[in-house]
Amino acid sequence: MFKFSALLSLVVAYASAVTLPLAGRQSGACAREYTVAPGDACNKISAAQNVSTFQLAWTNPTAIDQWCSNLRPEQVLCLGKEGKDCTDVHVVEAGDGCWAIYTGAGIPAETFFANNPNVARTCHNIYPGEVLCVASEVFDYST
Ligand SMILES: *[C@@H]1O[C@H](CO)[C@@H](O)[C@H](O)[C@H]1NC(C)=O
Repeated sequence: MFKFSALLSLVVAYASAVTLPLAGRQSGACAREYTVAPGDACNKISAAQNVSTFQLAWTNPTAIDQWCSNLRPEQVLCLGKEGKDCTDVHVVEAGDGCWAIYTGAGIPAETFFANNPNVARTCHNIYPGEVLCVASEVFDYST
């Protein structure tokens, strides 16, 4: 009996440790919703709705694939979860660099990189049309 309950609590602890990160992405109330229109693309939606490209993907881990190739008209997306909803954004233009973007927005580098965890410190992986968060508040996208 003791052995069984010890085993059970081990299994429960393991299961919650494994499922929590994923559950965190799904949980939390949606702050803003958006209904996909014909011809929409992720960066187009992001720029028009003031949401970063990263946040849109992060908030919709199952609805949007990694190439954003599976959007369908009438589909309802959540743009941001309560407390994890950056609405202050910058659309990357050709020739933009991270320093210019965060300096232009008047925010520290740390805030910029915390809110854009997909952007490399070297900034080599941003691209024209990508939408970045330039809010002065730091959002926690880790859970
Ligand atoms: C997006 O932000 C801009 C600049 O602050 C604002 O003018 C515009 O109304 C916002 N659009 C939406 C859909 O919130």
